[in-house]
Amino acid sequence: MAEAAAQVLAQTDGSFWMPPSASSTSGEVDYLFYLIFYISLFFFVLIVALMVLFIVRYRYRPGVPAAKTSTHSTALELTWSGIPLALVVIIFFIGFRGYMRMQVPEANAYDVHVFAQKWKWLFQYPNGHMDEDLHVPVNTPVKLTMESADVIHSFYVPAFRLKRDVVPGRYSQTWFRATQPGTYTLYCAEYCGKGHSDMLAHVIVHPPGEFEAWQKDAADLFKRLTPVQVGERLVKLRCSSCHTVDGRAGTGPSFKNIFGEPQKLRDGSTVTVDENYIRESILSPGAKIVAGYENLMPTFKGMLSDRELSAIIDYIRSLREPTGH
Ligand code: CUA
Repeated sequence: MAEAAAQVLAQTDGSFWMPPSASSTSGEVDYLFYLIFYISLFFFVLIVALMVLFIVRYRYRPGVPAAKTSTHSTALELTWSGIPLALVVIIFFIGFRGYMRMQVPEANAYDVHVFAQKWKWLFQYPNGHMDEDLHVPVNTPVKLTMESADVIHSFYVPAFRLKRDVVPGRYSQTWFRATQPGTYTLYCAEYCGKGHSDMLAHVIVHPPGEFEAWQKDAADLFKRLTPVQVGERLVKLRCSSCHTVDGRAGTGPSFKNIFGEPQKLRDGSTVTVDENYIRESILSPGAKIVAGYENLMPTFKGMLSDRELSAIIDYIRSLREPTGH
């Protein structure tokens, strides 16, 4: 038990209560948390101690007359109104100042577009690159414009003390400035279905100079990789939460050994899986539903370039085992 507790503590450089503090506003959040915590602790101890004292001291004893009680004391009432009022005003002031700082992005923020969908996070950078992890430079304000393709999700990075709902049909925005290089976990904090607890991503905060190198490298995928390798990466990024490549059925059909084969559809007809069928299935997923599956897939229209689409098709074609015919 004590060993497990020590392990938990060793994993974070945070305190017993808090995860590591790694953004420009997390210190302020913790400060207010501890302030309210210690104020509450102080009054809890004071009130319980006085209560016990009074119970003992003024208890009923045979033959002892009841103590005289006063009905009104102006000084007492001013005290118990004045002290809480002052405390609440102080807490409000610190809280409001921090809230405003967390609402208004610092100047010259780096823009990242966040897509949430069951059950994946995707991040699009200004150069068009898409990634399943959020890469940011240290000590640089980052502004996030977030949208959801299906239900309400919530963008939550405990180390940054940052949480904002991502709602379908509208953009939500938030920002942060990471202060410590490292890798942090991003959670979905709004229950969004059976894959909710797996809806995780990493926030990778790059030390000075490294971010530019990562960005340049990430943007040149087609220069470094073959189309099949790019397709493999895209499938892992965009499709793998529902489609396997090893033959197991997921939320959608597996991609293994389907290319060139006939596919039975829900309406009883049959199609052959070719380039055009795959393209149509990605852009208009509802057009032809494979027998035995539901129409659950969102469209990827506008989210994949033609080059990326053909890379995915090349990869699915490569997943077909040679059969000799
Ligand atoms: Cu997305 Cu929970």
